[in-house]
Amino acid sequence: MADYDYDVLVIGAGPGGYVAAIRAAQLGLKTACAEGRATLGGTCLNVGCIPSKALLHASEYFDAAANGAMASMGIKVKPELDLDTMQGQRKDAVKGLTGGIEFLFKKNKVDWLKGYAQFQDAHTVEVDGKTYSAKNIVIATGSSVTPLPGVEIDNAKGVVVDSTGALELSSVPKKMVVIGGGVIGLELGSVWRRLGAEVTVVEFLDQLLPGMDMDVRKEAAKIFKKQGMTLKLGTKVTGVEVKGKKAKVSVEPAKGGDAETIDADVVLVAIGRRPDVDGLGLDKIGLELNQRGQIETDHDFATKVDGVWAIGDVIPGPMLAHKAEDEGLAVAENIAGMTGIVNHDVIPGVVYTQPEFAGVGLTEEAAKERGAVKVGKFPMLANSRAKTNHEPDGFVKVIADAETDRVLGVWCIASVAGTMIAQAAQAMEFGATSEDIAYTCHAHPTHSEAIKEAAMAVTGKPIHI
Ligand code: FAD
Ligand code: NAI
Repeated sequence: MADYDYDVLVIGAGPGGYVAAIRAAQLGLKTACAEGRATLGGTCLNVGCIPSKALLHASEYFDAAANGAMASMGIKVKPELDLDTMQGQRKDAVKGLTGGIEFLFKKNKVDWLKGYAQFQDAHTVEVDGKTYSAKNIVIATGSSVTPLPGVEIDNAKGVVVDSTGALELSSVPKKMVVIGGGVIGLELGSVWRRLGAEVTVVEFLDQLLPGMDMDVRKEAAKIFKKQGMTLKLGTKVTGVEVKGKKAKVSVEPAKGGDAETIDADVVLVAIGRRPDVDGLGLDKIGLELNQRGQIETDHDFATKVDGVWAIGDVIPGPMLAHKAEDEGLAVAENIAGMTGIVNHDVIPGVVYTQPEFAGVGLTEEAAKERGAVKVGKFPMLANSRAKTNHEPDGFVKVIADAETDRVLGVWCIASVAGTMIAQAAQAMEFGATSEDIAYTCHAHPTHSEAIKEAAMAVTGKPIHI
């Protein structure tokens, strides 16, 4: 071991990389983490999960005051938007949390190598002109925005932006066009709609939120329309023309038909993200990418190159912070000779709009491809807490194996669906049947009771509908 500077060197300090580095250090391994950004925490803490949630949270309050939701509960206010302060609290949230990771690195004696790392060989990287060697190197370089051919993103100008630009707008656009009806488009589109923008979402597919259960996707379209978004589903963007501070977005039906143009002050391009391996020098270690530009690993997160591991957005699977974190824990434990496992069948996904959309496990469509299923559904309208809180939208859906009753998937639309889905994930990790959930005592009155009732509905016996 003495031949190497480190036992473990992690490249990238996002939720995958920083967790891997801290866990490796906790396990007694001499650890370094290379990160080129000025602050730790990766996409998630700097320009992703955290700043987007800061704006979603604040804009939700504004919307509740502006749209009459507060007045309906006897709170009469006329909100006035102070966007500088709102953006200030977003920056504070990011600063606090990224600083927190720096503190944790110091506490756990993880060396932060400041700069972008490039492989020299499988055990050596160069960072800012210096070389460092390690017995194990973990690639956790994350992902970046997928560009739309022919459409130039210029966050500084603020007309055609990606998610980072859309978080930093200094005024509320009058008209915003969102290209892509996925998670980013709906979350950030919701932020600016709540603050007063007219938002049009252009989605290539026939429904929003690909990957989610079809019932959820159809309901999402109804809910976002009701909230005032214009949805152009089954529509493709053929070009964006920018003149000064305005843009014209040309669209046409995906299956062919009449073209039209939509005026916009801001165009958000949110058509997905792709693995970030630029400048890593993978050719120097003979590591090839798959057809989707991802690094393939085995079950233990080892790549084909001895001593080189990979986790997070840069490998296959959902591009989610908690998936990256769990892989970070597992890879460090595997390097330390323990058994680190991630169950990729049980990774929850949440869209943090209002209501929230959440799911874990199989969609009904995917479950049916594997065999016969039983499905139980329960509307939030019949849940006492949601009804009392004036939150009628949504439902819970539990999908179970028709023969064994084992839960295969749970889908939720509710104000707190992101919190509710945790119990479903836990139940599935423990191999629960729908009957197990139905006979678990849930506190009353809580939104979570809707999960119990949906589980009861699998065998046809909910109480409240
Ligand atoms: P990243 O977080 O992308 O971190 C990789 C880091 O590696 C970066 O800091 C980069 O600078 C660094 N790096 C790259 N190359 C090198 C190199 N050669 N040398 C040194 N450093 C390098 N996920 C959720 O689960 N929940 C959410 O609410 C959520 N919201 C999101 C909102 C937005 C707007 C976006 C864009 C993403 C969101 N995500 C969310 C996705 C989440 O951010 C990612 O899945 C997660 O950050 C992936 O973690 P990672 O560690 O793999 O990579
Ligand atoms: P996405 O994959 O969620 O959605 C992209 C959408 O764009 C899809 O619906 C796709 O059909 C559509 N699309 C693709 N090309 C198009 C075109 N030319 N014209 C119109 N529509 C087109 O990707 P998104 O929203 O960019 O998010 C990227 C990643 O970040 C996701 O994988 C997601 O997991 C992660 N993320 C997670 C969040 C969360 O967990 N709450 C929040 C934000 C991002």
